Amino acid sequence: MIPTPDLSHLTSQDFDRIYEPAEDTFLLLDCLEEDASQLQDLQPRVCLEIGSGSGCVTTLLAKIIGAHNAIYFTTDINPYACKATRETAVRNAIHTIEPVRTSLTEALLPRLAGQVDVLCFNPPYAVTPPEEVGSVGIEAAWAGGIDGRQVIDAMLPYVEKLLSPKGVFYLLLINENKPTEVAEILRANYGLQAEIVMQRRAGREKQFILKVQKSS
Ligand SMILES: C[S@@+](CC[C@H](N)C(=O)[O-])C[C@H]1O[C@@H](n2cnc3c(N)ncnc32)[C@H](O)[C@@H]1O
Repeated sequence: MIPTPDLSHLTSQDFDRIYEPAEDTFLLLDCLEEDASQLQDLQPRVCLEIGSGSGCVTTLLAKIIGAHNAIYFTTDINPYACKATRETAVRNAIHTIEPVRTSLTEALLPRLAGQVDVLCFNPPYAVTPPEEVGSVGIEAAWAGGIDGRQVIDAMLPYVEKLLSPKGVFYLLLINENKPTEVAEILRANYGLQAEIVMQRRAGREKQFILKVQKSS
């Protein structure tokens, strides 16, 4: 069992500005941990997390794969999240995480095209009025607009571009995001394999992890 990253350096004031890890985060962490030996066998060289928030997902991933076995890029549009991601990594003795403040993967494409071996996204997935999408503050952690899909749909076209031939993508979704429809879009429009590999109820939410890979 890999211990959850130490976040004791983050205060309640930090969590007024960045997403505090919650059940959705822990579902993603559990899925990465369950896939630990598969991820190690993959021998990833480049990992990328979109929307890293506190940085605990990428920090755990680096613990699974080995800090010096890969480079770990993260992105977030919230500048405090980028700062927290770096602090969390250092707090957990990981010095190979490179947080980038950008929307989705804008600043990293096309340079990372076809090179990402492990891609993760716990997106802003809550159903909200569409005009709430697009902030760079704490609201960006949850505001997903119609069906909670606006940010998710905006990043789907990049998945196939980013993944290396052996790459794997973990996407957290809730029921309202219509996970089977997202999987079908990835299959039909981008020729990717997509399957729900984990699901859990968290209060009123039903949360899923969609695992996506290039077809062999
Ligand atoms: C649900 S939180 C997840 C945070 C963290 N990964 C976790 O699992 O605890 C979503 C994160 O996505 C970020 N985000 C929202 N829209 C984004 C965008 N267009 N590009 C990059 N990051 C974005 C938010 O700022 C927030 O940190």
